[in-house]
Amino acid sequence: MSLLFEPVRIGEVDLDNRIMHSATQESMADSEGYVTDTLLDRYRKLASSGIGLIVPGTMNVNPVGRFGTNSNAIWHDSYLPGLQRLTGVIHSNGSKVAFQLQHAGRQTFKKVIGQRPVAPSKGRMDPMFMARPRVMGEAEIESTIEDYVSAAGRAFAAGADGVQLHAGHGFLLNQFLSPFFNHRRDGWGGSDEKRFRFVREIVNGIVAIKPEKAFTMIKLSSNDFTPEEGITPPLAARYVKWLDDLGMDAVEVTCGTGSFSNMNIWRGDLPIKEMVGALPPAKRLGGWIVLKRMAGKFDYEEGYNLEAARTIRSLDPHMPLALVGGLRHVEYMEKVLGDGSVDLISMSRPFIRDLRLVEKLRKGAPEVSCVSCNKCLATTVGNEQIKCPYGE
Ligand SMILES: Cc1cc2nc3c(=O)[nH]c(=O)nc-3n(C[C@H](O)[C@H](O)[C@H](O)COP(=O)(O)O)c2cc1C
Repeated sequence: MSLLFEPVRIGEVDLDNRIMHSATQESMADSEGYVTDTLLDRYRKLASSGIGLIVPGTMNVNPVGRFGTNSNAIWHDSYLPGLQRLTGVIHSNGSKVAFQLQHAGRQTFKKVIGQRPVAPSKGRMDPMFMARPRVMGEAEIESTIEDYVSAAGRAFAAGADGVQLHAGHGFLLNQFLSPFFNHRRDGWGGSDEKRFRFVREIVNGIVAIKPEKAFTMIKLSSNDFTPEEGITPPLAARYVKWLDDLGMDAVEVTCGTGSFSNMNIWRGDLPIKEMVGALPPAKRLGGWIVLKRMAGKFDYEEGYNLEAARTIRSLDPHMPLALVGGLRHVEYMEKVLGDGSVDLISMSRPFIRDLRLVEKLRKGAPEVSCVSCNKCLATTVGNEQIKCPYGE
């Protein structure tokens, strides 16, 4: 049998196979973040195709950290009935589900959250979000930690098998962990240990309330690729060792930040025309200039986070690892599972193109149909529901 379809255990949770749906912001919630029938329909189809673990699109832990209109929210008990329906649809169709907990930090817009975005430090003006953030004070840091833990409590109450902390792509947890973004000199910055403290306190809070039969996972940037040094694979590996000591059950290895190194997250083509077209008219010229400068620098490469995952594995051989980023060929997936580099194969764009993908892989398809054209990204720029122009 293909290694992809062998079972695997994360914490105390058994997954039927090693294929994971990486969190993908669908923009299918309503304008207040509530689950809709459209969202349920997407996950009904995905789960019934036989995915081992599904992480739906990112879920905001508080309104200040919201990323994008129509993104999912988990900051209040009123969201519970919808979230329960979501886990119900996924479970009854045979997959396990983890909710991704998110705070965008500086990477969101005043227009979305009604105030200036917040961050551990001011840092430099970034080319994507064009704002200097407001620096978080001690009380706000403490209350945000509580927001993460309460959100995890809601995820478990809704029946999720796990929670995944989003500590990648330049969002708030990534900002605290990264020497590029975090310039604090108080108890929350100044050394790797202090930059790790925000995540440590959140993880401690979640582990304390986690049901026995549920797991914790983190999506961690293994390489920020920022203009000055941020997180690098050796630092990510150190963090993973510390997370292991705290009781973290698994790590999804990603890279890149939305602000300064966006296309590292999703290497492939740069559909400038579609992306610029999705921007409001006043931002089109600026967007075009930024995108033109990026053209040709982030071409598709299979498994672009593999070397970082191997660095992490060499320091902590016991932590289960999910690899994400450009995984497109079954032979390659089998190889990285077979040589022990990673334990799970995680994908996003291939599922935007094809909701029945896993069924096809099970029947012997040698590759996914996604060609990393990145036209799906243009839909996220405009906050429209995700779609692939070639989708089935
Ligand atoms: C439209 C779109 C939305 C995404 N939303 C999220 C998200 O909500 N959370 C997250 O961690 N990553 C998100 N990602 C990144 C993917 O999970 C993944 O890390 C990246 O696309 C690389 O994997 P792939 O080559 O399989 O697409 C998104 C990607 C795309 C294309």
